[in-house]
Amino acid sequence: AAPADLAARIVAWQRSHGRSTLPWQNTQDPYRVWLSEVMLQQTQVSTVMGYFARFLERFPTVQALAAGSEDEVLGLWSGLGYYSRARNMHRCAQEVLSRFGGAFPRTAAELATLPGIGRSTAAAIAAFCFGERVAILDGNVKRVLTRVLAFEGDLASSAQEKALWAMATELLPPAAQRRAIAAYTQGLMDLGATLCLPRKPSCMICPASELCAGRREGAPERFPVKTRK
Ligand code: ADE
Repeated sequence: AAPADLAARIVAWQRSHGRSTLPWQNTQDPYRVWLSEVMLQQTQVSTVMGYFARFLERFPTVQALAAGSEDEVLGLWSGLGYYSRARNMHRCAQEVLSRFGGAFPRTAAELATLPGIGRSTAAAIAAFCFGERVAILDGNVKRVLTRVLAFEGDLASSAQEKALWAMATELLPPAAQRRAIAAYTQGLMDLGATLCLPRKPSCMICPASELCAGRREGAPERFPVKTRK
């Protein structure tokens, strides 16, 4: 059974203990949120800070980015790695102009049709900027949710991953609480990045510990389950 008040606890925790002063928070500008989410996909917050500021200074809008050269975009990305992210961002900016008249689409489903925007990144942008009630499921969030649920499936299986997406959707704050979705989304990410760590989770101070099935069973670090190949 889905722990019904997980969302409420995470929202309350995020509002009092979560990160709230990062440069891409406190904005609903999809360009900034998109840029930060793509940078944060494979890079830690402390490294992203400087790159984010330099990138925005040179390319303050999606129009500016679309008009830039790929070489210059790659130059600003230099040192961040995973350079396909930068190439996709440049193409994405051009598609936002050509397909959407220069304004990012407002739904996760449409955002996910753009280059370099996968399902979870699309959902994060839609939740943060437009309040859409959609689930995210990046690496950190998979760890949090498989532990809370004591989810035994192997996420290398697409059927199991699909099942976890469905459960992530069930756990979202109720539709009536439109304003909760952004705090919930950020809270799940912050929980995964700061407390629900791979090796030594800080269950003693975790807002979800009382309803965490993985902890109740005694070994939250066991999740996500990886079956040996
Ligand atoms: N990792 C991915 N998205 C993030 C966000 N919005 N804040 C902090 N870490 C993240």
